[in-house]
Amino acid sequence: MLKATFEKVEDMDYSTREALNSLRTNLRFCGGDNKVICLTSCRACEGKSTTSINLARVLAADGKRVILIDADLRKSVLVGRYHIKTEEEISGLSHYLSGQVEKEEIIYESNVKNMDVIFSGPLTPNPTELLGNEYLQRLITELKEEYDMVIIDTPPLGTVIDTAVIVPNCDGVILVIESETISYKAVQNVKKQLMNTGVKILGAILNKVDYNNKPKYNYYYNQYSVK
Ligand SMILES: Nc1ncnc2c1ncn2[C@@H]1O[C@H](COP(=O)(O)OP(=O)(O)O)[C@@H](O)[C@H]1O
Ligand SMILES: [Mg+2]
Repeated sequence: MLKATFEKVEDMDYSTREALNSLRTNLRFCGGDNKVICLTSCRACEGKSTTSINLARVLAADGKRVILIDADLRKSVLVGRYHIKTEEEISGLSHYLSGQVEKEEIIYESNVKNMDVIFSGPLTPNPTELLGNEYLQRLITELKEEYDMVIIDTPPLGTVIDTAVIVPNCDGVILVIESETISYKAVQNVKKQLMNTGVKILGAILNKVDYNNKPKYNYYYNQYSVK
């Protein structure tokens, strides 16, 4: 199996870990049929990628077989941010969706125990078309058999349509909302778009909550229902 080393996975601080553990618990209460979960948001930089990987990590730490899929074919940060090292050049989702490689050639076993990863692959001129083809559906259906949880990181739904194409393949979606920067109206719009796809909205994560007016680096995660 292909191997990828995350050379820079930071230990989570206590409050982040606690918040993610309660997110994991809340997910359990959403029911056992929610195996394929997609995270999206209104805008870029609200924390989708950070939350996706951290959620995958806490699920993996709980003994679940988890696969994290980076489906942000436009602005992937995973490889650069976490200093990913692989022996060969990375083959990713865009290679697979364009029919260039098989599934086995894009799944990497990571140095985070129980967590495998599919990287986004190189930028393509037509991400929405690629994500909309039947390859993605087939991939997710197969992964669902092999893993306990499939976590999918996506681009923001408020700015590109890719996520609307991805979510019908998922059991549920979580909306990541950056505290105090996103308007109620923007969230409602994205919620409406998600509802139009028919996907189950599992809830929202209010991210980067600045409790007690602490400096910005003391952000915490929090979760509440979007309904
Ligand atoms: N809970 C958090 N606390 C502090 N910083 C955060 C948190 N979530 C995300 N960030 C930071 O915000 C920036 C954008 O996060 P990222 O996950 O890349 O957003 P997105 O995937 O939505 O574009 C990154 O620099 C990340 O480190
Ligand atoms: Mg991202």
